[in-house]
Amino acid sequence: MNYLPLIFPAILSFSACVAQRQSVAETEIESKKTSQVVPGLGEETLEEDEAESIQKLIELVEFQASQIYKVMTPAQKEHISRSKTGDTVRAVHTKSHGCVKGGFFVNENLPADYQTGVFQSGLKFPAWIRLSNGAPGYGPDKDPTSRGFAIKLLNVEKILGERLQRDQLRWSLPRYQGQGQDFLFLNAPAFPVKTLKTYITFTENLEKGGMAPLTTFARPDLRAAASEARAFLGMITQNVESPLEISYFSQLPYQFKDRAAKYRIDSCAKNSKLKKNRRQQRNEKKGDDYLYERTRNTLEDNGETACFDFSVIRQMDPVVQPIEDSNIEWLSDDKSIEAAQRYASGKRKNIDPKKKFANRLTVARILIPQQTVTAPLSDSTCEGLSFNSWNALEEHKPLGNMNRARKAVYDHNANLRKRRESPIVADEEHHQILQRLATSDQN
Ligand code: HEM
Repeated sequence: MNYLPLIFPAILSFSACVAQRQSVAETEIESKKTSQVVPGLGEETLEEDEAESIQKLIELVEFQASQIYKVMTPAQKEHISRSKTGDTVRAVHTKSHGCVKGGFFVNENLPADYQTGVFQSGLKFPAWIRLSNGAPGYGPDKDPTSRGFAIKLLNVEKILGERLQRDQLRWSLPRYQGQGQDFLFLNAPAFPVKTLKTYITFTENLEKGGMAPLTTFARPDLRAAASEARAFLGMITQNVESPLEISYFSQLPYQFKDRAAKYRIDSCAKNSKLKKNRRQQRNEKKGDDYLYERTRNTLEDNGETACFDFSVIRQMDPVVQPIEDSNIEWLSDDKSIEAAQRYASGKRKNIDPKKKFANRLTVARILIPQQTVTAPLSDSTCEGLSFNSWNALEEHKPLGNMNRARKAVYDHNANLRKRRESPIVADEEHHQILQRLATSDQN
């Protein structure tokens, strides 16, 4: 999907709204404050007509996947057929930049407030990581789109079994039994739409092509629409030199002990050679698959180890950090304190304006070491994998309207792709990688 023709008119149309950034955020917080019922920490609220919206989304996504298949090249179709996924592709995030092996290392000495599920001090998990473009289809990497990072922790049941009682190992999706813990991320802090109904309109407009997606944001509720347009444009226009060197966000909330939390991962590449290369590459012509080429260049040709810090942003206030509106970024650290103070100085007096909101903590590190990076169209293992935010321990249960919709949509799409039924296990290479990384100085 090429969003390029959309960008400049979009920026012009919305520049006035973007200029009001501060007041938009304040008004959103203000309007939430005056709503009748304030939910508790981690508490969900169903959206109006939610079941109908989810059914509609399933149909739209299936249609989208069938449209992609129609315009695929013979080589792409052959790849799908080799991967034994039937004649259906991922409806979005179709194109990968590489499926790589790595390790997930939980920090030592995690505070008690942060120990839950897979986050137990000192644990290490082998992992599969799939890097992707968010757009449907196999368009050139330089087309504006979101970028995805999906990670599947393996051996979770085996590793946690040593620490947790058997009955604490509850999986949200029973048929994924024993198949790890998935985390899915995109390269911007906020989801581009607020409600499932708007998401449906947005997806329908994407199908129409051209300028149509932007009409989603031409609505009477200008402030909300401007906030959505800003998140959308911010995500698709980000200049990405390498998928291994940026930040990614869960955007949506997940259960975290007595409340909710969002996750983010930030590249911790400290290699100066890598950064110097990037400065040079910024002005180079970018090929259609440059993101795969750079992934291979880093991990295979240069033998570098890619590194990400995994942080948890805990929910401290259900209004400032709402569960059901993923278009509102959960601020952390100083910004969060500021927002909370601004909010506290309003009508609700029960928040101490001086209270510190130290709600973000790095809890783990993801390392992706030197390895052969198979070209995506030759990699049938990767094509056959299915990542799903609901493939999770109950302790990390997905929350909120978008996550509730994803449960049905991803499952439906993965079933259409005839996802492999055999358990996904760590192989010998995974174990070697984990051993090697456990003793490396980056951990
Ligand atoms: C209602 C909201 C959403 C819908 C309907 C949706 C839909 C989809 C679908 C249909 C797929 C393909 C799944 C498959 O065939 O296995 C997918 C993949 C993906 N989604 Fe979403 N998505 C939503 C929100 C999000 C959010 C909030 C994130 C992360 C912040 C995200 C990240 C990803 C990633 C990284 C992939 C690629 C997974 C892989 O590599 O296999 N999505 N999404």
